[in-house]
Amino acid sequence: MTGIFGQAFWDERYRSRSQLWSGEPNPHLVSQASEVSSGTALDVGSGEGADAIWLAEQGWQVTAVDVSTVALRRGASRAAEVGADMARRIDWLHEDLLTWEGPKPDFYDLVSVQFMHLPKEPREALFRRLAASVAPGGTLLIVGHHPSDLQTTARRPPMPELFFTASEVAASLDPHAWEIVVDAAPERSTTDPQGHTILIHDAVLRARRRPDSR
Ligand SMILES: C[S@@+](CC[C@H](N)C(=O)[O-])C[C@H]1O[C@@H](n2cnc3c(N)ncnc32)[C@H](O)[C@@H]1O
Repeated sequence: MTGIFGQAFWDERYRSRSQLWSGEPNPHLVSQASEVSSGTALDVGSGEGADAIWLAEQGWQVTAVDVSTVALRRGASRAAEVGADMARRIDWLHEDLLTWEGPKPDFYDLVSVQFMHLPKEPREALFRRLAASVAPGGTLLIVGHHPSDLQTTARRPPMPELFFTASEVAASLDPHAWEIVVDAAPERSTTDPQGHTILIHDAVLRARRRPDSR
């Protein structure tokens, strides 16, 4: 799949600014991952690496995967600035998640997906593969922009199929294999393109794979 879902789009988007994102880890990652013990983590669509670096600082061994080599280089150089120990804790992987044959099944203690917006069919297929890559006892954390943001003046592409709720993701998980820990749509304030402060919502799904599930 090309266009807004491929490498050329994302490389160009990253090249357009010296820094696209805040450089801070996503708040829902910080609050949710702080409640689980560290181990191996997969950061899906890792962007400029703030989440991967934060996870490494918390003791996680991280695989950060993204389609944009521009973003990956930024992440790797920032990790190196933070310190050699930190840099060693992160593998930067250039893959298109839509065609990547990884991730390893039953492997990661945490799979974190922060603001990965794809059309419904490839998104659901990707989330299925990511869920299968969580180790028994591990955590799946999926955070996205909530569909209700389309009713606001927030900057969102006018493509409803890109957005999902946590409940929709929760419903796709086998209840025999998964315990839903968080299924929420928390509110937060942001600034719209006109400079107005507005309220938007995130979709936050945290699920724990049952330790005895295979
Ligand atoms: C909205 S950004 C979020 C970045 C980061 N997770 C964060 O929250 O700051 C989406 C990221 O997903 C990556 N991405 C989009 N489509 C992808 C694909 N098919 N395969 C791998 N990465 C992809 C983009 O390059 C971009 O870094």
